[in-house]
Amino acid sequence: MKRIGVITSGGDAPGMNAAIRAIVRKAIFYGIEVYGIHRGFMGLINSDFIKLDISSVGDIIHRGGTVLLTARCDEFKTEEGQEKALKNLEAFGIEGMIVIGGDGSLRGANVLSKQGIPTIGIPTTIDNDIPFTDNCIGFDTAVNTVVDAVNKVRDTATSHERTFIIEVMGRAAGHLALYTGLASGAETILVPEIPFDLNDVCTKIEKGYIRGKLHSIIVVAEGAASSIEIGKVIKEKTDLETRVIILGHLQRGGTPSAHDRILASRFGGKAVDLLKDNVRDKMVGLIKGELVVNDIEKVLAASKPLDMELYRLADILSF
Ligand code: ADP
Ligand code: F6P
Repeated sequence: MKRIGVITSGGDAPGMNAAIRAIVRKAIFYGIEVYGIHRGFMGLINSDFIKLDISSVGDIIHRGGTVLLTARCDEFKTEEGQEKALKNLEAFGIEGMIVIGGDGSLRGANVLSKQGIPTIGIPTTIDNDIPFTDNCIGFDTAVNTVVDAVNKVRDTATSHERTFIIEVMGRAAGHLALYTGLASGAETILVPEIPFDLNDVCTKIEKGYIRGKLHSIIVVAEGAASSIEIGKVIKEKTDLETRVIILGHLQRGGTPSAHDRILASRFGGKAVDLLKDNVRDKMVGLIKGELVVNDIEKVLAASKPLDMELYRLADILSF
């Protein structure tokens, strides 16, 4: 393999730049050229390619976002779009691709594989909803960002003896809510994977105040329910002072944690190793600290269950 391409696609996540850096430097170490493609699959279609040399990825390991830019590109889901992308890859002599992104981006990577381009996927999303890896790049940073925000909310919640409903991202998954809820000592964690009854939530909040708690923090995953509605119901049922905060896209920004930089460096380096060794159509992952490699198709056919042991622990500790 003489020349490979790399894209960042879908929702950005802290650590994408560290992965790009690792890919470029490991590839150059092996004498392989790397082309970065701007704006994910959109850049493949629009022929937005740029050669990346060693210094082009200097001073980016600590930056959030992605220097290659990212996009959601529906055209790549069509046959016409895919044909254009393949023609451009051929024109640039790209023999292998590395796709850095979430679940949707892996679907796009699978399309490239099916069209005959050896492709490796790197799981990168703050949602952490990709199976066959304990962590996706970006998750650890997002957890720390949310916990930092909840710490601040807790100060004002205590002063005013208020109940706060804090909505976190995660799309249809509750991993981010569970980890941040546990780490920030939330009284209640609401996730899409587990049905809940708001009467029980209210009873728990009231019991907390009765035994002297000065505030109540409810972390709700965006996929579980509308935080605004939850706030209204709790206010109606308990008459407690409630406030709702939707943390939104600040969860996707910021300098990547050391954990995410290391993960991104390992994933990026491994992805290049795989292409060099003619391994194709795989996703790299990390299970119990060890790098693992699985078929992209197998990953796409599975889903990542919520860590129920952690959920039960969080529930017990929050009484
Ligand atoms: P993420 O990768 O963060 O989950 P998306 O779900 O938006 O983000 O997917 C990112 C991009 O991957 C899409 O905009 C599209 O270009 C590509 N993609 C997603 N699903 C498919 C698919 N079934 N076929 C081809 N490309 C896809
Ligand atoms: O997949 C990452 C994510 O941040 C989800 O948690 C969220 O639902 C979605 O992307 C938001 O997408 P957008 O950036 O298009 O608003």
